[in-house]
Amino acid sequence: MTDERAFPDDSPGGEALKRVRIRHFARAKEQGIKITGLTSYDFLSAQIFDGAGIDFLLVGDSAGNTVFGYDTTLPVTVDELIPLTRAVVRAAKRALVVADLPFGSYENGPKEALHTAIRFMKETGAHAVKLEGGVRSKEQIRRIVQAGIPVMGHIGFTPQSEHGLGGHVVQGRGAGAAQLLDDAHAVEDAGAFAVVLELVPSTVAAQVTKELSIPTISVGAGPHCDGQLNVWSDWAGLTIGRVPKFAKKYADLAQVLHEAATRYRTEVETGVYPGPEHEYDDTPTS
Ligand code: KIV
Repeated sequence: MTDERAFPDDSPGGEALKRVRIRHFARAKEQGIKITGLTSYDFLSAQIFDGAGIDFLLVGDSAGNTVFGYDTTLPVTVDELIPLTRAVVRAAKRALVVADLPFGSYENGPKEALHTAIRFMKETGAHAVKLEGGVRSKEQIRRIVQAGIPVMGHIGFTPQSEHGLGGHVVQGRGAGAAQLLDDAHAVEDAGAFAVVLELVPSTVAAQVTKELSIPTISVGAGPHCDGQLNVWSDWAGLTIGRVPKFAKKYADLAQVLHEAATRYRTEVETGVYPGPEHEYDDTPTS
């Protein structure tokens, strides 16, 4: 990697094992290179996404929905997310791994936020943490950053506040744009290295992206942000049921797995599986 390059090389035979760092995020913004992120909650998916050169993996509290089957992200706990984060860290050789601080683990103030961030850093090996809220979370962000832990902010629609916000509602429309800009500046001033904008009109996200010196990462905030992030199960067509409008389906894994499971069941029932090629003989091992 030269000093000018935004990201460590992810090409075969390149400098593939170099880790993406927060300085690469800053450089990507300077150079106009888009940043790509996906959520991940397990070793196998993280290995695949890392191998494909995805720049960062977020072990999101969306695991509350996708892994644990809760209706919202609110019930998921630090103790539930820690083992998932550890697995993703073990798989990620290049990607920067971001651990999401779940609801109830940082709202009480900077001291609680730092305590939780330290748990994730020590117990999982994650490279950064993410937390929700702009102006309301700036002291928490500042304290964690002061301790040497990189923080990714998250503003716009913040799922942990879904009841307060009245559901999955686009944020920053009309008079809400000024609040969004205040939140964005608060996150930057507090020392975050990047900020997620979720469910924000593209024009407002473009304005935030222009005003901030840290990269903006879109989750349904349009093409003008410095990077894009998707919940991998929506993106890969694994989610059964409603997916947000912004999630483009890059694969149809639910269909692929359904067909595979149906064929497997049929082959077991009809004796086609296991075939001779799947059997072990009784020759003693020499
Ligand atoms: O938990 C998550 O997946 C997230 C993203 C949607 C930003 O917070």
